[in-house]
Amino acid sequence: MAKILLGITGSIAAYKACDIIRELKKKDNEIICVLTASAKEFITPLTLATLSENPVYDDMFYLSKNYSLKIQHIDLSRNSDLILIAPATANIIGKIASGIADDLLTTIIMASKKPVLFAPAMNENMWNNPIVKENVEKLKKLGYKFIEPKKGLLACGDYGEGHIEDTEKIVRETLFLLKKKTLKNKNVLILSGPTIEKIDDVRYITNASSGKTGYFLANEAKARGAKVTFITGKTVFFPDVDILEKVESAEDMFKAAVKNFDWADIIIGAAAVGDFTVKKISGKISRKKEIKLDLKPTKDILEFLGKNKQNKKIIGFSAEVGNNLNRAREKLKRKNLDFIVINDISRKNYGFESDYNNITILNNKGKVIFKGGGTKENLACKILDCIE
Ligand SMILES: Cc1cc2nc3c(=O)[nH]c(=O)nc-3n(C[C@H](O)[C@H](O)[C@H](O)COP(=O)(O)O)c2cc1C
Repeated sequence: MAKILLGITGSIAAYKACDIIRELKKKDNEIICVLTASAKEFITPLTLATLSENPVYDDMFYLSKNYSLKIQHIDLSRNSDLILIAPATANIIGKIASGIADDLLTTIIMASKKPVLFAPAMNENMWNNPIVKENVEKLKKLGYKFIEPKKGLLACGDYGEGHIEDTEKIVRETLFLLKKKTLKNKNVLILSGPTIEKIDDVRYITNASSGKTGYFLANEAKARGAKVTFITGKTVFFPDVDILEKVESAEDMFKAAVKNFDWADIIIGAAAVGDFTVKKISGKISRKKEIKLDLKPTKDILEFLGKNKQNKKIIGFSAEVGNNLNRAREKLKRKNLDFIVINDISRKNYGFESDYNNITILNNKGKVIFKGGGTKENLACKILDCIE
């Protein structure tokens, strides 16, 4: 669990802090809020104290009224793992860039050696003002991090750049910064999602994989500092990775995997690759007469990669009805894998299309090293912990 100091400044987007607190708390982080005087015009300390379940700080000279041995701004900056300023005004960016420490929040930032992340929100002209731009560039050069605002409807009624980024992205970037970079210098290749085999120009056969497991694995590998190549079948979940390749059929996925194989240190085969392909008929098959599909087995991608693996680590997935250890052990051996993740798809609300998985991980000796259910996001951490 990390301790995050959330600095809130005087922007109309201050209400977004409520969502940010909730989402960071859901992921087991403790939040301490520090408000500027202007921020209190937009959001109350009571709301923030209630949501964060912690006192809210706003007074630089608290010590003169409530004597304690601790100097508040030093104590708060020393005891946090990261400082997130969301929303961040043009004013606070300017003050920090100029070395000004004239209230509690700016003094905490100035006294801190912890990572500082700004999520700016402001009117488009303010964001594009060369002074603000110069301040942002100066801070970036000094190692401060930014989640750049996006285009959107601004409080002034204009549509343009300056809208604070989505909570999901702010939370993700915050957690990225907190993560130890344990996979730095590692190249990770992830195969994800379902494949499709075309029957004719409009129809295809596929499976129920959503691509969520691969998506969370890619996010987690990125957060741990890896370079990630993500090869995915048809999905709506696209992680922010170094290389993203979209494929359709099992044969496409095979070719993309082989092309990226040499580069990779770790290969995670989380895709639900179709076991059969079908001889495609061009045009649209008429529904008027019965037809038989001629199904042919596809190539086993992981078996091929496993045979050529050298000193790479290869992790396979096996969707099983129940916890079929023996079948998984046979696959582990035949495909020359380092781990196999058994995904039990027999339980309702787990597996395909769900946000939850129920998994068992076997090591290369076939021994169970992890067993448990949970969100695909949390299990992605467990899987990467095992790989590490
Ligand atoms: C309704 C309203 C909305 C504002 N929204 C923003 C904003 O989104 N971004 C910004 O940089 N300043 C905004 N300001 C101006 C800041 O509140 C002002 O610059 C203030 O001095 C910032 O103080 P602080 O950085 O110490 O919180 C807004 C002001 C008002 C009255």
